[in-house]
This record gives sequence, C-alpha cells and structure tokens, in this order.
Amino acid sequence: MTGFPVERPRRLRRTPALRRQVAETRIDPSMFVLPVFVVSGSGIRNEIPSMPGNYQLSVDELIPLAREAESLGVGGMIFFGIPDTKDEQGTSAWDPEGPVPRAITAVKKHAPGLVAWADVCMCEYTSHGHCGILDGDVVDNDATLPLLAKAALAYATAGADVIAPSDMMDGRVGVIRDTLDNAGFEDIAICSYSVKYSSAFYGPFRDAADSAPAFGDRRSHQMDPPNVREARREVELDVLEGADMVMVKPAGPYLDVIREVRDMVDLPVAAYQVSGEFSMVKAAAERGWIDGDRVMIESLIGIIRSGADIILTYFAIDAARALKEGR
Ligand code: PBG
Repeated sequence: MTGFPVERPRRLRRTPALRRQVAETRIDPSMFVLPVFVVSGSGIRNEIPSMPGNYQLSVDELIPLAREAESLGVGGMIFFGIPDTKDEQGTSAWDPEGPVPRAITAVKKHAPGLVAWADVCMCEYTSHGHCGILDGDVVDNDATLPLLAKAALAYATAGADVIAPSDMMDGRVGVIRDTLDNAGFEDIAICSYSVKYSSAFYGPFRDAADSAPAFGDRRSHQMDPPNVREARREVELDVLEGADMVMVKPAGPYLDVIREVRDMVDLPVAAYQVSGEFSMVKAAAERGWIDGDRVMIESLIGIIRSGADIILTYFAIDAARALKEGR
C-alpha cells in the first residue's frame, strides 16, 4: 500500500531550491520573440496607449531596444511596419526602403544574436485594412498570394531569418516557399501562423499597427474560435506546403490547441501571446488587482507547459529581466 501518510508530495515543495530542481517546465528568454512596430523617419517614439511600454519606433530608436533584448538573451524580434502611404493593393508592403526591411537590416547589423522574424500580411499596408486584395467586399485569396510572396521576398532580401505569414490565405506557404527558393533564399525559414483565430484579443494591436479593417471583419479567413479539428487540418496543409515551424495564435485562451498541435508535429511550435492578453495583465496590474510580474511569468509558463517551444510576447524584455533577477 502506498499513499498517505507515507507519500507526501509536499516534501518536494519545501524550499525554493527543491522547487527549482523538480520544475517540470523550464522557461528561458531564448524562447521569446519580441514584436515591435516600426515607422519611417528618425527619433520617433510614439507610446501605444493600449499597450503600456510598447512604442511605434523609428529604426534608430529600435536599435538600442534590439541591443537590450540581445543582451538579456531574448531569442528574436518580429517586425510590423506602419508605412507612410497605404493603397488598395498594399504596395508599400514590398518597398525595399519600407520600415520593415530597414529594421531587419539594422537589427541584423547591430544585434546579430537575435533571430529576425518578418510578419507577412497586407493589413498594415492596404487603405481598407484588409489582409489582401478585395474583390467587392471579399478578400480575394488567389490574387493576394503573389503580393504576399513579393513582401516575403523583400524581407528575405533585407536579411530576415524567418518569414512569418499571418494573413491566413489558403496556399500562401507554398507560394512563398517557391518564391524564396527561386530567388536563392532556400535557407530562409517559414513559420506559418497556421492556426490563427479570428480573435477579439487583437484589439490593441490594431491600434498599434493602424490595421483595423475599414468595414467588416476577418472571419472569412481567420479561424473560428470553437474549432480544433480544423486547426489540425490547417497545420497539416502548411507542413505539406513546406512550413518549417507552425504557430498558434492567440496563446492563453487556446492552450488546448497548442497541445494538440504539439502532439501532432515534430516541428517547433510557436505561440503568440497577443496584444489583448498582454494589455489585460498590464491593466489589472496598474490597478493593483494582480501582481503583474508573477502573472506575466505564470502566463508564459502555462503556454510552455501546453507545448510551445517559442513564444511571441510583448513581455519578452520584462520577462527576461525578471528571470535574470530571479523575480
Ligand atoms: C496581421 C496580424 C495581426 C496580429 C499579428 N499579425 C492582427 C490581425 O490579424 O488583425 C495581432 C497580434 C496581436 O494582437 O498582438 N498582420
């Protein structure tokens, strides 16, 4: 017979050293990717009201942040561009002098220890804020694919290590893979936002990136929150098309989906702790309702425990610092 009083799980929880030694889930800043919003010009630092501590930054202002992230051991940065001009087709998405290509080149130069990720989507670049070209009121899937490929190629040319399409058009991973390969970028990886839900948790991001749709929503291409078998199907297709990593987004409300994806593929699984997840913690902490540092780390541990290898998070620098200081 085992069980109480012989077995006492509390024995291994007695001291911080014991707890640290038996921890089943490890968290390390190399797992983090910090999302940043880049604008043209210089000396620009616009705080994003709904995302405290996050800024729209010009490239010169981004460099010290990248150095800081690198020195704290943060794994990488993912860039979102806010272009000077928008049009129906989103042509500035592939401008080689646009904010994202310039940010990539600068960060590769000044903080080479970071992995440079480039988000690929049209919504920041189109005048209507939709993720691709419109045919009437509908995003035209197949007509959008070559535009995404052009943007991906511009970012790879600037030096991106990882191309991360977030648009949710069908077939985009294959088209981007072909385009990169034909241009000699066969070694540049693709992390597909394979499982991206149509989520209200993206609210603050759309302020930050100025990318809210002018009408309608993204439900015709982003996934419906109740579905998880469909998530498996999205992952299977992206793997067949050549994805090197797959992502689930948002993270916290979809931990079961992260686990499902982890159990079905051997590729690295990324999870995006999105703007709304971040801002809720910040807002509650500002009010003194929760301990912001502890909730930050606990939320990240939960995402790792559910199976994520990589976390895109606005907490990347704060969490790296908290871990370093043993907070
Ligand atoms: C699309 C994109 C979005 C996010 C990342 N890439 C917004 C959207 O789909 O509307 C959201 C990220 C976040 O909320 O932090 N370019």
